[in-house]
Amino acid sequence: MCGIVGYMGNQDATPVIMSGLKMLEYRGYDSAGICTMDSGDIEIRRSSGKLINLERLLKEQPLHGTIGIGHTRWATHGKPTVANAHPHKGGAVVVVHNGIIENYQILRDELSKKGHLFLSETDSEVISHLIDEKLKTAASLEEAVQLALKDLQGAYALCILSQKDEKTLIAAKSGSPMVIGIRGNEFFVASDMPAIISNTREMVVMEDGEMAVFRNGEVKFSTIDGLEITKTSHYIDWSPLKAEKNGYPNFMLKEIYEQPQAIRNVVAGRLRMDEGDVFLEGLNLNDSELNSFERLCLVACGTSWHAALTGKYLIEEYCRIPVDVEIASEFRYRDPLVSKKTLVIPISQSGETADTLAALREARSKDAHIVSICNVVDSSIPRESDGVIYTHAGLEIGVASTKAFTTQLVALYLLTIRLGRANGTIDLIKGREMIAALGELPSLVEKTLELDPQIEEIACECLTSWDAIYLGRGISYPIALEGALKLKEISYIHADGYPAGEMKHGPIALIDREMPVFILAPNDRHLVKVRSNMEEVITRGGRVIAVCSEGDHETSKGAEFTLHIPWAGEALSPVLFTVALQLMAYNFAILKGKDVDQPRNLAKSVTVE
Ligand code: AGP
Repeated sequence: MCGIVGYMGNQDATPVIMSGLKMLEYRGYDSAGICTMDSGDIEIRRSSGKLINLERLLKEQPLHGTIGIGHTRWATHGKPTVANAHPHKGGAVVVVHNGIIENYQILRDELSKKGHLFLSETDSEVISHLIDEKLKTAASLEEAVQLALKDLQGAYALCILSQKDEKTLIAAKSGSPMVIGIRGNEFFVASDMPAIISNTREMVVMEDGEMAVFRNGEVKFSTIDGLEITKTSHYIDWSPLKAEKNGYPNFMLKEIYEQPQAIRNVVAGRLRMDEGDVFLEGLNLNDSELNSFERLCLVACGTSWHAALTGKYLIEEYCRIPVDVEIASEFRYRDPLVSKKTLVIPISQSGETADTLAALREARSKDAHIVSICNVVDSSIPRESDGVIYTHAGLEIGVASTKAFTTQLVALYLLTIRLGRANGTIDLIKGREMIAALGELPSLVEKTLELDPQIEEIACECLTSWDAIYLGRGISYPIALEGALKLKEISYIHADGYPAGEMKHGPIALIDREMPVFILAPNDRHLVKVRSNMEEVITRGGRVIAVCSEGDHETSKGAEFTLHIPWAGEALSPVLFTVALQLMAYNFAILKGKDVDQPRNLAKSVTVE
């Protein structure tokens, strides 16, 4: 999740762009850069690390010009180095990009054959060379951009400059956010409103497939196919802080609602429908190497450990490979039985959790092969792994993990397909079915998010509770654990998750009128058994909130409250049930007046033991 800023007007572009980049810092960054054009001369400054490094560089080597573009990078492809920092230049063209180009490798190979020299590992650099190549035949920069965009597959928010057209700045959007600010004959482009709201509150929100050409104090809007369109500006009265949260009251809710896009990001460029397979760049293991492992060992902490448990159900079910799941803080001290025949998979959003990093090193000391699943590119855990599967969830600011968890589930689903295709337990047809199910998932998450008002009502009704229980069977059991963790970590209500079949072995003694019992009852193979567990709770006077599948009106009969979740199949329904339970915990916490972004006693990344 990078940040882009563009400016064209009568002011010096550099301070306008730098103040905009500063306001985008919350989006996370590991490098930054800026380019200005002055009388046709294009100059670029880039630095790794914090924005202050770029500011220092600009003090030593200032830029001039009233047209410019800038970028803060949250690495997705390629390490956070200066060479990989934006802006990227290809021939006469300079671009800054937020998004993921899925077919960049093919384009890069084709352009290299035409003599283009690539200097970075990024997908974004391809765009500058592609536009430069189109300029050889196009009648204008905007035509070259339109031709280039036709070849791109993936998500982008772009600002583009060319030495061959010193009076023009172009912006184009598809799949990544972009707003345009207008102040007289000055124009501001940014990923988010905070970057430009201090300059103007007149904003135009760009939609997918639209572009803007700024030239000589005027702007022309069109589709990326060149069809001229009219765009209406709106006066935005948000405070800069509210704008940083894109209008949401806090980062946690913003990140819950970002999950459809985050799921699109984690699958972007990885689906191979024709082969019924997935491509996991960074896995660094071919079929025979994957098949050489006798077992897998997934190791993590907290919410990531719940993802690991879910991964066990998926991989053992579909790939018939034994999977151990370990809590990192236990694994690291247990002289664990792993060897070079074990594929150890640390799962971590931050990539910096001390116990998980220590578990990785313990496994390394026993010659295990290590592939991590991580959200932060080039953090400690992936750096010390033999391979990595990035979740591309974008920066997650809320301490309670939401989009990072659901993208971990999808990453494990992708790995399941890859493992199953490698050892033959998933055939071509099944692989295609599993890939097709992924295509539906973002819209089903959007549908689940529409349950928010109903969920708020349930939270309101149960607000006085001080305890709660979450029950699930099979692959719903880790989701019950995650639902309980979400509730306790942001609302401070004590909550526990149990396998539904465990109730009669003790927890059922807790049942009374005061304690809500969330029963996860998807329409899967366990439904009948879960219904009988529900009966056990009801007959003892328990308050049941049934979380079941759309169309299931049988399970809801005895429940005090019922949520109907869209059906995404047994393997992906945990993602949708998770979203509902995230909203449940969120509503409890808000109604209790808690700080959901920074709950007491918690840290976003536990880098100490
Ligand atoms: C989840 O809501 C918590 N923030 C916490 O359990 C977290 O999942 C755990 O600390 C592991 O963090 P990691 O994924 O960054 O390794």
